[in-house]
Amino acid sequence: MQFKTEIKKTEYQKDFQSGNIEKLAQDSALINKLKNDPAVIEAAELLKKGEIVALPTETVYGLAADALNPEAVKKIFKAKGRPQDNPLIVHIADKSQLQQLTAEKVSIRAQKLMEKFWPGPLTIIFSKKPSVPPETSAGLETIAVRMPAHPLILAVIERSQLVLAAPSANTSGFPSPTQAQHVYNDLKGKIPLILDGAACHFGVESTVIDIRGEEVRVLRPGGISREEISQCLGEEVLIASDLKDDKVLSPGMKYRHYACQKQLFVFNFSDKISFLNRALKRAENKKIALITARESQIDSRELSGKKIELLEVFSHSQPEELARKLFALLRKLDADQSIDEIYIEELEAAGIGEAVMNRIYKAAAAEKYSQPGGGDN
Ligand code: TXA
Ligand code: MG
Repeated sequence: MQFKTEIKKTEYQKDFQSGNIEKLAQDSALINKLKNDPAVIEAAELLKKGEIVALPTETVYGLAADALNPEAVKKIFKAKGRPQDNPLIVHIADKSQLQQLTAEKVSIRAQKLMEKFWPGPLTIIFSKKPSVPPETSAGLETIAVRMPAHPLILAVIERSQLVLAAPSANTSGFPSPTQAQHVYNDLKGKIPLILDGAACHFGVESTVIDIRGEEVRVLRPGGISREEISQCLGEEVLIASDLKDDKVLSPGMKYRHYACQKQLFVFNFSDKISFLNRALKRAENKKIALITARESQIDSRELSGKKIELLEVFSHSQPEELARKLFALLRKLDADQSIDEIYIEELEAAGIGEAVMNRIYKAAAAEKYSQPGGGDN
C-alpha cells in the first residue's frame, strides 16, 4: 500500500527541543494534555486499526505497531525490509502492562532495574506469554520490553491502550533515525504518519539486557551503561560478545559496510601520525571526511590542498555528544556527493562510549555481528 506520509508535530515541540526529555517523560500532567492532542489521537487511532506509525523515543525514532496484532507487526517488517528472524522490542507506558507480555514473576533484579532506569533506554528480556504473537518475538520464547522516556510515545501508548512493538524506524541496514526527517527519507510512501518529537536525546539505541540467568549479560550496549547497571544491581555485568576486534580497527579492512553506504574506517588517536600519513595518501585519489575529537587537534595546514574535510565534532570527555550526533552525521556524509570515504576517531569504550564504539565498529564491519541481540536492524 502506498501512503502519503505525513509528519506531524504537537504544540509541545519547543519543550521537546529543550533537551529535558527524560524529565518531561515523568510529567504526567503533560502526558495527559498530549493524550488530547490531534496528532496523538490520530496516531493512536491508526495503531488501533492495525496500521504502523513512526514515533519518537529518547534514543532513536521507532516504527510502532500493536505488539499483540500479528498482521500489524508484519507491516513493520515489510516497511523496513527487516529480516524475519530479528525480534522486536515492545514499549509500555506503565509497569502494569508487563502482564500482557510475560507471565513470569518479576524478579528482584528486574524490579531494581525498572525502578532505577524506567522510563529510559534499558530493554529487559522476559519469558514470553504464549498470547504474544511469534511475529513480535521472531519465534523466540522471550520478549524484550522497555518503557521509553519520551512523552509523545508515552501519550500514544496511553491513548491507544496498546503495547507497542517498535524497532528503530530506519530501512534495515541504515543508521537508526534520530530526526523525523531521517524516518521520512527512509520510509516515505510506506507509512501513513510520523510524529515529530524533535531530535533524539541519546542518539544510540537502548541497552538490551538479559537478567534471567545466573549472570547479567548485556546483549546490546546502549543508552544505559554497563557501569550504571552494575552499580544498580551490585553485581558484575558481562557483555555478550567482545565487539572490540583488532581487525576492524585497521583502516583498509574490506568488510561490506552496513550502517552507511560509504566505507567507514576507525582510527586510534595514539596512532595519529601513521594514520594521518595513510589518510593523506588515500586522499590523493579519494575525497575523505575525517571525524575527530576537538582535542585531537589535527593541524589543518597539514591537510591543505588535500581532498580531506575535517570535522572536529566531539570531545572525549563527553562521549554522549558523539552518541547524539553519530547517526545524523553518517546519514549526512552518506548523502554528501563530495565525500567518498569516512574516517572516524576511536572513543574510549566506557560509559555510553561502549555503545558508540559498538555502533561504529558495526558500521565499519557489520557482517561480523549477527542477530538476535546485539544487532541493530
Ligand atoms: O532504543 C531502542 O531500543 C529503539 C527504540 C525505538 O526503542 N529500538 C530498537 O529496536 O533499537 P531494534 O529492533 O532496532 O533493535 C532491537 C534489538 C535487536 O538487536 C534485537 O535482536 C534485540 O533487540 N532483541 C529484541 N528482542 C529480543 C529477544 N527476545 N532476545 C534477544 N534480543 C532481542
Ligand atoms: Mg534498529
